[in-house]
Amino acid sequence: MCGIVGYTGYREAYPILIKGLHRLEYRGYDSAGVALLDESDNSLSIYKAKGKVSGLESIADSRPHSGCIGIAHTRWATHGLPTENNAHPHQSENGRLTIVHNGIIENYAVLREQLKSKGYHFRSETDTEVLVQLIQYTVDTTGEDVATSVRLALGKVIGAYAIVVIDRDNPDTIIAARKSSPMVIGIGEGNCEFFIASDASPIAEYTTKMVYLSDGQIALCRRGEELQVLTLDNDLVKVKVRNVKLDLNMLDKGGYPHFMLKEIHEQPSCLRDCMRGRIVEDGKRVVLSAITEHREELLNARRIVVVSCGTSWHAGLIGKQLIEQYCRIPVEVAYASEFRYSDPVIDDKDIVVAISQSGETADTLAAIQLASERGALVYGVVNAVGSSIARNSDTGTYIHVGPEIGVASTKAFTGQVTVLAMMALAIGREKGTIGDEEYENLIAELLSIPEKMEKVLSQDGRIRQIAEKFRDKHNALYLGRGINYPVALEGALKLKEISYLHAEGYPAAEMKHGPIALVDEEMPVVFLATHYGLYEKVISNMQEVIARKGRILAIVTEGDETVRNMVEDVIEVPQVHSSLAPLLTVLPLQMLAYHVAVSKGLDVDQPRNLAKSVTVE
Ligand code: F6R
Repeated sequence: MCGIVGYTGYREAYPILIKGLHRLEYRGYDSAGVALLDESDNSLSIYKAKGKVSGLESIADSRPHSGCIGIAHTRWATHGLPTENNAHPHQSENGRLTIVHNGIIENYAVLREQLKSKGYHFRSETDTEVLVQLIQYTVDTTGEDVATSVRLALGKVIGAYAIVVIDRDNPDTIIAARKSSPMVIGIGEGNCEFFIASDASPIAEYTTKMVYLSDGQIALCRRGEELQVLTLDNDLVKVKVRNVKLDLNMLDKGGYPHFMLKEIHEQPSCLRDCMRGRIVEDGKRVVLSAITEHREELLNARRIVVVSCGTSWHAGLIGKQLIEQYCRIPVEVAYASEFRYSDPVIDDKDIVVAISQSGETADTLAAIQLASERGALVYGVVNAVGSSIARNSDTGTYIHVGPEIGVASTKAFTGQVTVLAMMALAIGREKGTIGDEEYENLIAELLSIPEKMEKVLSQDGRIRQIAEKFRDKHNALYLGRGINYPVALEGALKLKEISYLHAEGYPAAEMKHGPIALVDEEMPVVFLATHYGLYEKVISNMQEVIARKGRILAIVTEGDETVRNMVEDVIEVPQVHSSLAPLLTVLPLQMLAYHVAVSKGLDVDQPRNLAKSVTVE
């Protein structure tokens, strides 16, 4: 979704802003823009471009772009088409104020009409322009300074926002504010310069000192002065500076053509990082501090409710099976977007587990806020350190797989499943619902996963060949049972997202209740047919597809000759404990989606219409 970068200090702002926008590209966007204020002559330069940041650069590079204060934005269209005109920054009519904005102003139409009736004119279709005009109107009618006017104007706004405003008449100050949309302020050298952004990735190379704004806060970033944070009611807030370090290598492609491919291949090392310090005593015990600290609540939990979206929801379905099996606690898995509006029956005997890679998904955040209000303990399983969901959870376990840049989630998914498996083991052990042998065996199996993943990843070339067969298809079915059913859903989602092929995931046995009508010689069917659980039954489902001339790709356990002799293509994964199968079976499906998209010449890392961080509901 939209991304923000801002800078005020003593350096040239332009290179910082452009580099920052590149760092934010992974969030998904359709236009970009930058505004620079040069205090030597008080001139303001604004450049905008539809499409990529590189397009913006080619315009701005050849035109004046000096100034030590500036703001920049990548826009993911919500109000109005993705045109240059609708791209941010937007200005007040008299050109004094310039704004960039993430989020949605829900009452923008009413405000726009009110402002129009007072003689204000609008140049774009955006809600953002309404906001900057409203602030200007407040300055004009109250005579207050801009910071106060921002505060007063935001009091009239319904919706979600992270905004950054610059004022031509005060060319050293940036005003930032947030509600339900993240905003972080980096404090630079000598505490005299400020880097402002919608997440830490564009500013992490300049400073580790970060201040995360909370909802309803406004920050005044004045070059050479201490950061000042106020509430919308004008109360001064004690600034809490966090030390946030990001591994900058993780923000580069590291020699791979795409972030997605890099992230697929780094899963073995990511899972080692995820388990480090948590599987201890020479692989004999799982220790998660959140579980130790909240032992009583977890042991006495009546129910666990998982709230999440998309890929994280699929991880939740796997977590349900693991937690129910090893902890004997009933688990429900809800789409966060449905949960938040369902008036859920939830109280202090429930644990709500929020799973989120970005930690900023608006629906998941709202779901945990509701759960907290109703007394549930909120346990976050989050990747982005310091993110809103992490900060709004009572406790939790970070996934620790490093920043995920490719829009299609890969390493975060396997990280989430690994954390959920560790949670099931740790809670099950405390409850006594898992036997010693099973417990130790599962830990050993978890520790063996990274090496086994490497074996699966070495089949990349073969998967690329198989991908050619999908290239010209329009549909695909993904079928699996038990623990592999959520993997079928995830495989289908990956294909949809980046190769724009329609794909459906189904429990394999459910196929004959409808989807089998779609099967013919044109329909690729991907079966998850690993060697345990309902294997024989999955084979029967395969026979049904073969009888209708469906083209099968099967993901099987190493050495499976039965399936090899039945179907067109097989990919083998090493033998593993059935509960952990998804950590291996999902890899060929991630690679398949990747290679289909590449062979179609599509933009793998930034697929159309998608955003990495879904900060609007
Ligand atoms: C799919 C994907 C999305 C996200 C979903 C939730 O590849 O990435 O479906 O999983 O938008 O995002 P997070 O996990 O950041 O809450």
